[in-house]
Amino acid sequence: MKTLSELIAEGVEGRRVLVRADLNVPLDGDKITDDGRVRASVPTIKKLADAGAKVIVAAHLGRPKGEPDPKFSLAPVATRLGELLGIEVPLAPDTTQLTNGGVALLENIRFDPRETSKDDAEREAFADELAALADAFVSDGFGVVHRKQASVYDVAKKLPAYVGELVEAELKVLRKLTDDLERPYVVVLGGAKVSDKLGVIANLLTKVDRLLIGGGMAYTFLKAQGHEVGNSLLQEDQLEQVKGFLAEADKRGVELVLPVDVLAATEFAADADYADVDAAAIPADRMGLDIGPASRELFAAKLADAKTVFWNGPMGVFEFDSFSGGTRAVAEALIKSDAFTVVGGGDSAAAVRALGLPEDGFSHISTGGGASLEFLEGKELPGISVLES
Ligand code: 3PG
Repeated sequence: MKTLSELIAEGVEGRRVLVRADLNVPLDGDKITDDGRVRASVPTIKKLADAGAKVIVAAHLGRPKGEPDPKFSLAPVATRLGELLGIEVPLAPDTTQLTNGGVALLENIRFDPRETSKDDAEREAFADELAALADAFVSDGFGVVHRKQASVYDVAKKLPAYVGELVEAELKVLRKLTDDLERPYVVVLGGAKVSDKLGVIANLLTKVDRLLIGGGMAYTFLKAQGHEVGNSLLQEDQLEQVKGFLAEADKRGVELVLPVDVLAATEFAADADYADVDAAAIPADRMGLDIGPASRELFAAKLADAKTVFWNGPMGVFEFDSFSGGTRAVAEALIKSDAFTVVGGGDSAAAVRALGLPEDGFSHISTGGGASLEFLEGKELPGISVLES
């Protein structure tokens, strides 16, 4: 893989460089609620701009339906990127007008249906248009490297392509989790859906010493153990698979740790009435919205002697104050630990920042949720393999 340093060493003054970044940030109206991905994208863009390149940034926001939709405009991101870089970053300008050291942001790349098309020829046609804008391509959108999309994959075959600093750093950390790890290796998984994590769980069961499961997905595990879960999130269609995971963990001597108590609420609401109940006895009319205090202690104890930890997915509905304690407890246990600790993207990274926890308390906070899980699952990441070919 050719690196950003190599590109800069070749000389970029006056050259047009297309950078694919992942600027897919959560918005509340037009307000960015977590700018972590924008901040993480700055170093590569800044290095190129400082070296005199004309930097054209391509990125997506959300999942628009392949046509312009103001709800998914990157306008707030252009403003924030400009603030962080200390220069004006125009959105969707005529890129031929860029001056040396200038940075422009293309409008949401997914407004064009060819970006995400399953048809190779359609994607390639779009990639040809993108390639015509630039002289070199830098892949720096780690959160999207698992997508075979025009601005991630196809364009890299049409221009001299380089890996950006963010992608390089993310890969280095994740490789430590697969090639070179210190044990005990403990993985904490949460989030709503067990179906999103089937592949990674199957793979992790062959690697980890301990697997801690919280969040919405824990209820399918509790049910698979024969417990009633009331109105909690449940994926009935995954029960057989989850039973298989329980048996596999047992066979391999992997300690699979589930919540022992949960905060069971009367409804899915920030001000819902709730009680701490035994995880094996969730009342029929209640739903678990967080792991309870005993589970928090148990999870912290199971993390205490870890030498390597990967955490993906919140333990409860952390956006609601009353149900943020479990996620906070896991984050705090990681901060306290002297293990190599990696927070795997998406919601868990947003939770760390939303809860006001220090980002430097972790060895690494990944910008990629799906991408880091697919990496750990051992899947090929198209946006990476294309840089290696
Ligand atoms: C993410 O948010 O995980 C990345 O930006 C990828 O977005 P996607 O899942 O819509 O492809």
